Amino acid sequence: MATTCFSMTIPIFKIRFFLFSCFIGIVSSQLSPDFYSKTCPNALSTIKTAVDNAVKNEARMGASLLRLHFHDCFVQGCDASVLLNDTSSFTGEQTARPNINSLRGFDVIDSIKSQVESLCPGVVSCADILAVAARDSVVALGGSSWTVQLGRRDSTTASFSSASDLPTPLSNLTQLIDTFSKKNFTTEEMVALSGSHTIGQANCVRFRTRIYTNTNIDSSFATSLRANCPSIGGDNSLSPLDTTSPTTFDNAYFKNLQSRKGLLHSDQELFNGGSTDSQVNAYSTDPSRFKTDFANAIVKMGNLSPLTGSSGQIRTNCWKTN
Ligand code: HEM
Ligand SMILES: *[C@@H]1O[C@H](CO)[C@@H](O)[C@H](O)[C@H]1NC(C)=O
Ligand SMILES: *[C@@H]1O[C@H](CO)[C@@H](O)[C@H](O)[C@H]1NC(C)=O
Ligand SMILES: *[C@@H]1O[C@H](CO)[C@@H](O)[C@H](O)[C@H]1NC(C)=O
Repeated sequence: MATTCFSMTIPIFKIRFFLFSCFIGIVSSQLSPDFYSKTCPNALSTIKTAVDNAVKNEARMGASLLRLHFHDCFVQGCDASVLLNDTSSFTGEQTARPNINSLRGFDVIDSIKSQVESLCPGVVSCADILAVAARDSVVALGGSSWTVQLGRRDSTTASFSSASDLPTPLSNLTQLIDTFSKKNFTTEEMVALSGSHTIGQANCVRFRTRIYTNTNIDSSFATSLRANCPSIGGDNSLSPLDTTSPTTFDNAYFKNLQSRKGLLHSDQELFNGGSTDSQVNAYSTDPSRFKTDFANAIVKMGNLSPLTGSSGQIRTNCWKTN
């Protein structure tokens, strides 16, 4: 699997030079969909069954698992760094501001990992489990599917400070564009990925300022949210990111933005008279365009700086290094 072979034929003055090169055991930075087809053929079906059960048990878990993959990939690449607990040698990502009291689904990933380890010990990485679980979560909630690229390995470190690469809910449009462009995403890809907020929940502390001070918010929507998110206290009270269909992966998020019912300040920035309004309009009227763009963008997200070949390791437990 860590073997890259290629051959080239170069015609020069009708003489053909055949160049063969075959590096054995050298890092292949390419991920591939069939990475585990020989080494752990039942890995994907095992992950899917576990995700389906978790989502059946609690629909929000699909959102939480999708978000774990995002928060993994944006911080030092898709290497499962987000799953590492703090150790004496590093402070991990879980207590960083974007993650603390917020990320969830660790227990579901740990349970999937132990099932996959008993099938094929030391083969399937935690980073790949996150990528597959994200796709299966979207599918379980009615979204479209995509082919997951595989072959990522797990990091041996995590980075509290690099968690600042993640966007904040107080960002304006310029800051959102900038945060994603630092990871080589276009503005269009950023808008498509933001459609993830068509599922899941947010804590009052992360949208309070918006519902008490923003003007680009539907006033009855703001009033209804204040009941469950007081100006003082209730920091952890939840409200759905998509007020109309929070457990269905559809395009309602974009329709909500058109009626100024985005929950987070950052959500509404995508439809606030700026350059991304037209794309929000397009996704509102054309759900299949959103689904296609979303799938392409999330596959690209899954390609952020993966560890491959002999870099990193395949962790036995996702929460600690071997
Ligand atoms: C565009 C910039 C983004 C910002 C500012 C942002 C911010 C947030 C915030 C503040 C929450 C609520 C967290 C809480 O209160 O506990 C949240 C939830 C969520 N985010 Fe994002 N996010 C962004 C992009 C994304 C992307 C790209 C994805 C996935 C690819 C994503 C997936 C989710 C999901 C699914 C939830 C709900 C999680 C749950 O219910 O457990 N977000 N996001
Ligand atoms: C890892 O940390 C999480 C939360 O920070 C905690 O709930 C969990 O028990 C820890 N896991 C282990 C195995 O120590
Ligand atoms: C966005 O926020 C940054 C940082 O606060 C600020 O410098 C910039 O002027 C803001 N941009 C717009 C268009 O409001
Ligand atoms: C973005 O692209 C540049 C140029 O190809 C590359 O050097 C950089 O590593 C990429 N950044 C990320 C986060 O992938």
